[in-house]
Amino acid sequence: MKMNETVAVALNRQINSELNASYTYLSMAAYFDSIELPGFAAWFRGHSKEEIEHGMRIYDFIVKRDSRVELEGIDKPQLNFDSPTAALETALAKEKEVTAQINALFELAHEEKEYSTQNMLHWFLEEQIEEEDLFRSILEKVKAAEGNRWHMLVLDGELGKGIAN
Ligand code: FEO
Repeated sequence: MKMNETVAVALNRQINSELNASYTYLSMAAYFDSIELPGFAAWFRGHSKEEIEHGMRIYDFIVKRDSRVELEGIDKPQLNFDSPTAALETALAKEKEVTAQINALFELAHEEKEYSTQNMLHWFLEEQIEEEDLFRSILEKVKAAEGNRWHMLVLDGELGKGIAN
């Protein structure tokens, strides 16, 4: 059955939001490269790819439901941050924003009786719990290391090896 049009528009908007998140995290990777923390940069680069995968999940769903994918422009991301802590705080705020968007999408799918969309969104509801938890835990570690270059380098090494996440 072809997808409800209001829901299709909202899902297209969510593709855009996931790709904006991808670009934001890529910009954070570039920031961490610029302050010689390559482990953080690699971590954010990996997370940038994950956001594209999130967008593609929705893309594929729209196509399978015989609806139209319509891409929008990507906003210019923030380039600089006051500190690693500030960057992680911005990233966590981004994840909270995405969680609110997924919740609103779920609500809309419910109102429009789009049951298969609700089913598809269950994956995202679970994923957002994991994402917020992950970003929060890295933020706590960064806060603890802030101001001490040696501790920051140890954390950087762990993030680069996938130990700290
Ligand atoms: Fe696709 Fe990190 O939320």
